[in-house]
Amino acid sequence: MSGFIPRTFVNELLARVDIVDVIERRLALKKTGKNYSACCPFHNEKTPSFSVSPDKQFFHCFGCGISGNAVGFIMEYDGQGFVESVETLAQDMGIEVVYEENQAPKQDPIKHLFPVMQQVSNYYQQQLKSNPQAKIAVEYLKKRGLSGQIAKQYGIGYAPDGWQNLIQLSIPSEDLEKDLIDSGMLIKNDKGRVYDRFRDRIMFPIRNRRGQTIGFGGRIIDQGEPKYLNSPETRLFHKGSELYGLYEMRQQRQKIEKILVVEGYMDVVALAQFGIQNAAATLGTATSSEHLNSLFRICPTIVLCFDGDKAGKKAAIRAIENALSLLKDTREIRIMFLPDGEDPDSMVRKIGTDAFNQGVNEAITLFDFLIQHLTSQVDMNTFEGPAKLVHLALPFSRAIVDPILKTRFDHQLSLLSGVSEQQIQSILQKDQPAQQPAISKAPVPTRHSPQSNNVAHKSISPDRNKETTKQKGPFRRAICLLLQNPEALPAANLDWVKSLDDPGAKIFSKLCQLILQNEAVTTGMLIENWRDQPEETALKRLANQDLLLNDEQIAAELPDLLAQLEKSLLLEQWDNLIAKSKLQPLSAQEKQQLKSLQSQIATRG
Ligand code: UTP
Ligand code: MN
Repeated sequence: MSGFIPRTFVNELLARVDIVDVIERRLALKKTGKNYSACCPFHNEKTPSFSVSPDKQFFHCFGCGISGNAVGFIMEYDGQGFVESVETLAQDMGIEVVYEENQAPKQDPIKHLFPVMQQVSNYYQQQLKSNPQAKIAVEYLKKRGLSGQIAKQYGIGYAPDGWQNLIQLSIPSEDLEKDLIDSGMLIKNDKGRVYDRFRDRIMFPIRNRRGQTIGFGGRIIDQGEPKYLNSPETRLFHKGSELYGLYEMRQQRQKIEKILVVEGYMDVVALAQFGIQNAAATLGTATSSEHLNSLFRICPTIVLCFDGDKAGKKAAIRAIENALSLLKDTREIRIMFLPDGEDPDSMVRKIGTDAFNQGVNEAITLFDFLIQHLTSQVDMNTFEGPAKLVHLALPFSRAIVDPILKTRFDHQLSLLSGVSEQQIQSILQKDQPAQQPAISKAPVPTRHSPQSNNVAHKSISPDRNKETTKQKGPFRRAICLLLQNPEALPAANLDWVKSLDDPGAKIFSKLCQLILQNEAVTTGMLIENWRDQPEETALKRLANQDLLLNDEQIAAELPDLLAQLEKSLLLEQWDNLIAKSKLQPLSAQEKQQLKSLQSQIATRG
């Protein structure tokens, strides 16, 4: 076992290897234009959607969504850890690995948490059976029509009241308190006091693909707030990509033809109770492309289930935004709207399995719904209506990657609007979004997220809020451009970025620094610097986003974009100072700042 490997060494190594060589030793690659392609080694497919870019030093599979640099490839392909993969890569290149001195061997940072979580889950299940306090919980579950068998299948348990239950369990661990904190089961408050996160709640274990418990959702018994308490983001548990019920679904060992995506824990278990075993729930977040990708790896048809109300329609549109780039003519997403005020749980109890299944079979296809939704927003009987329709539809058209679906969509758009397909194509090409992509790929808060201003839900996940603003930030496009083409970094003075207190600005700043400090910088090497960081997934997504621009166009866009950003941020600061000056006199320093801002804004025209 070897020691810790410094980042600088990994960056140097990545600058010297060629990802095409690395992959070619393990996989037959075919040159297709600038890139190389193959059938993806990480999922089953007959037509190649795995692509390796020598420019970016990055691989990406359009089918299953996996992506990464040379180290990432070896980790996945050889099934090795990070350190071993770096060692393999260095050995292939005949380079000696440099280890950090005085560093204890780096241990697998999460493996030891799985057995701890398993024991906690066993404890909760045990408590549901034997703790006298749990009687009300059992009654409640019975009242909601849940059988003991389903409770067992889903490992439902009970977290007793009390603040120090878990720490007293005899769970083998080198440092139980730390493990329980790391896995989100204990909270450490400001005073250093440690206590159980879940108290007097019905516990739904959330299990990963292998059936390992990675988090919990805890429902309050009967009424109260917050209704559900969820595990926080931990190294085990990433809300944005996990689905509740997926493991249990696959345990049925039946052929899965389609998967139903619902909102809640209770929806999944209630449907299972009624024999509908193919449902999974997102965990209080919108359906993301990560979710859809993992589901498409299992089967080609996904049915998204929403409330029929306005919020449900909105959530459907958000899901569509995340889905368009993943769709192919062999994959299908359908949308099922339930009557107002119903969820799958209440619905299946009301109408029964057969009628519910019939509803699933009649679900509207994604494209039919999208067209319906777009046309409903304009008055097609007016002169302007059809033109407006084209305008509304363009961002969606642009997001479709599959050529057959794209042609179909544009054709339909042309029929509806009377604008010729050729014309639509030329508008699409001319009218590339210069600043923000017209539709955002950021994870979208659902009605349970902090943004809904529902005080009761605020405690669910403080980190979700952070993530949303981060990815929607004004630097998103700039990060995307720079990540894909590091050479485009303009020579302009970018010190103003450093002073900004914006998560996107921080990432952008770090990118600039890495580009200036390293030689032969590539996308793959840049991404390496965020390995296992919360930003990694978002950055990978940006690295793979199809910009439809060539290198010169990127190099041309970036300076303009930065100039615009700088100006808008200066204006914002100026606005803030002016607003402040209306409430109270400004200090001398602030007055000075105002003056300087004014002249800076003036010189920028
Ligand atoms: P719902 O409020 O629709 O809950 O939230 P539900 O699953 O139908 O539960 P019951 O029927 O009232 O028991 C849907 C999902 O949103 C998340 C949970 O994942 C929940 O299953 N949620 C909801 C939270 O995370 N926190 C909350 O306070 C509420
Ligand atoms: Mn419900």
